[in-house]
Amino acid sequence: MKITIVGTGHVGSAIAFAATINPLAAELLLVNRNLAKAEGEAIDLANASALQNSNMRIRAGQIADSGGSDILIFTASVPYGSPTRKRTELAIENYAILQDWLPQLATVSPDAILIMVSNPVDALTYAAIKLTGYPPERVIGTGTLLDSVRYRALLSAELGIHPDDIRAYILGEHGDTQFAAHSLAMTGGERFYPSDMSAKLFRQTVSMGYDVSTLKGHTSYGIALATMSIVDSIVYDLKHTMPVSVLIDGFLEVRDVCLSLPAVIGRGGVTRVLRPKLSEEEQAAFQRSADAVRANISALT
Ligand code: 2OP
Repeated sequence: MKITIVGTGHVGSAIAFAATINPLAAELLLVNRNLAKAEGEAIDLANASALQNSNMRIRAGQIADSGGSDILIFTASVPYGSPTRKRTELAIENYAILQDWLPQLATVSPDAILIMVSNPVDALTYAAIKLTGYPPERVIGTGTLLDSVRYRALLSAELGIHPDDIRAYILGEHGDTQFAAHSLAMTGGERFYPSDMSAKLFRQTVSMGYDVSTLKGHTSYGIALATMSIVDSIVYDLKHTMPVSVLIDGFLEVRDVCLSLPAVIGRGGVTRVLRPKLSEEEQAAFQRSADAVRANISALT
């Protein structure tokens, strides 16, 4: 198994560290516009790896060195500049990076599964399908997986139940139009319905990315382990169901846009996109997310 991480900024290097302490590949390649940064990360991680029971080969390289990758993790991004900058404001500059790199990466790794992390992740996941020519099932955006993890963590503290046992999905856009699918929410077979508590925690979830970035300048660990949970499900063919950004092909008459729905992730990528029965309010929220991401996509070209 060969994994290439493109972009070794805060997010890419956190993912690389997570991959080093959970070595599930034979080779980890770090590619970065600033090659020296990637080389520094690779040497530092190789030192850390010496303490692990792992013989994973960790190195830095160019796009040509990524040939034959099984998984590509794309995190390259322009700097946010301000912690409160909207993810969608990065679209045009980050799209230029995708245009520059993705066709070359796909040429040398024609059979890879691509995990898109760069924001705005939904619009860029859609763009990545077009730029790589990969079948849609092999292009996965981290989407609202991170938001769902954040929401479950907040609910866990409130309910006194482990996050793993809380079925709560944030769906739609990884952005301001995301919504909590309360009609699907359940723990231990007990439904939990919208309440002042869940509404408050949902508001905290939506602003969490901005709040953490305001405090530490960026976010990294949450998105890193969310990304690694997708990698795990691919590498071990676990068939986990995760809310990730996928090409929507007709759910609620929505098509030709990427949004987060519960999707089954296995060795081939997206093996199934589930079609949950949403309430009317949630269906309207899904349409609003689709409109927002479509507008973002149309701004790219
Ligand atoms: C987050 O929500 C920045 O989209 C990233 O942490």
